[in-house]
Amino acid sequence: MSTLLTTKDVATLIATRTLPRCLEDLAGRIRADFLRWPEFEKSARLASHSKQGVIELMPVADADFYSFKYVNGHPQNPHIGLPTVMALGVLADVATGIPLLVSELTLTTALRTAAMSAVAAQALARPGARSMALIGNGAQSEFQALAFHHLLGINDIRAYDLDPAATRKLVANLARVPGLRLRPCASAAEATRGADIVTTVTADKAYATILTADMVEDGMHLNAVGGDCPGKTELHRDVLLRASTFVEYEPQTRIEGDIQQMPADYPVTELWRVLAGQAPGRRDAGEVTLFDSVGFALEDYSALRYLADSARELGLGQPAGLIPDLADPRDLYALVEASRTVGVQGEVAVPARDSHALCA
Ligand SMILES: NC(=O)c1ccc[n+]([C@@H]2O[C@H](COP(=O)([O-])OP(=O)(O)OC[C@H]3O[C@@H](n4cnc5c(N)ncnc54)[C@H](O)[C@@H]3O)[C@@H](O)[C@H]2O)c1
Repeated sequence: MSTLLTTKDVATLIATRTLPRCLEDLAGRIRADFLRWPEFEKSARLASHSKQGVIELMPVADADFYSFKYVNGHPQNPHIGLPTVMALGVLADVATGIPLLVSELTLTTALRTAAMSAVAAQALARPGARSMALIGNGAQSEFQALAFHHLLGINDIRAYDLDPAATRKLVANLARVPGLRLRPCASAAEATRGADIVTTVTADKAYATILTADMVEDGMHLNAVGGDCPGKTELHRDVLLRASTFVEYEPQTRIEGDIQQMPADYPVTELWRVLAGQAPGRRDAGEVTLFDSVGFALEDYSALRYLADSARELGLGQPAGLIPDLADPRDLYALVEASRTVGVQGEVAVPARDSHALCA
């Protein structure tokens, strides 16, 4: 009844479809779902904070589908061999509550965050932008670089990370992408000088100052991805005073975004309104625009529906085995009886109805 997609399945999906195509498809799905914004039941995500990081639940629903993501953020994890961000998610049928898909979302989060950044930049960056500073060269960085290359035509990326090994990894991973030039930089200031777009995607559970106002030039678009939690920011507040700021879901971004540093009346525009033509985006070539990205549940809903459709089309995934498949839905006890008679070695002989039916 439910399909399970592992990280290997999603990697196979990306290899089959190609990464540029997946980024383009996801950007299209996200844009289409943002245009249906009023149809969704939305809430700020539920966060559980600890000294080391945060664990969050991100639900959203429309009339047909309910989804949620489980995601963490532990910036010190790479020191013990774990990713900073790990995630999984569920897509369920609203009419019955059946969880149709249970999927890995670690790789998928990197894809959907990059696609979301590209959707925002397409609406807000200066047309003809060709260069980008990429500050923070960890797990998300290749996906950000490729989304801006393939969806916006960025061909010149200046990369900086506190840890030169991260920059070496990024440059090596993308060395063979045709038409994309990556230049390692010795500082964030060097990376940002003259760039059309600046992406900050660092991880530190602190009020960090990755960008100061003196690094911001007229007409830049800022894509601030790493400031996404209370007490975890990347921009000096003077940068926010200089920029026109666009957000995903305002009630969540007020708590989690770089704008947590600003008073409650600091003006922001929800991006869906720009996409829908209800609010202006960039007003002129000299304006500094900021996408204060924190990651919103709707992006994961879009991604989960894309995964469900793609898995069905490509024959990926396996039965999750998480929901009892019963001949008589009121006879749950039959499972206990069957396993008692068969024991731990054998199969549970409960007559099954159709199984592994991924959402229509
Ligand atoms: N907005 C969203 O939707 C979204 C989605 C996913 C991840 N994120 C955030 O993006 C950030 C990056 O995630 P990741 O998975 O790439 O983490 P990661 O740990 O793999 O990489 C982070 C990199 O930032 C570097 N860094 C830390 N402080 C720095 C500084 N002051 N200057 C330059 N580099 C610095 C680290 O050395 C590391 O290489 C995290 O903060 C994460 O929470 C946001």
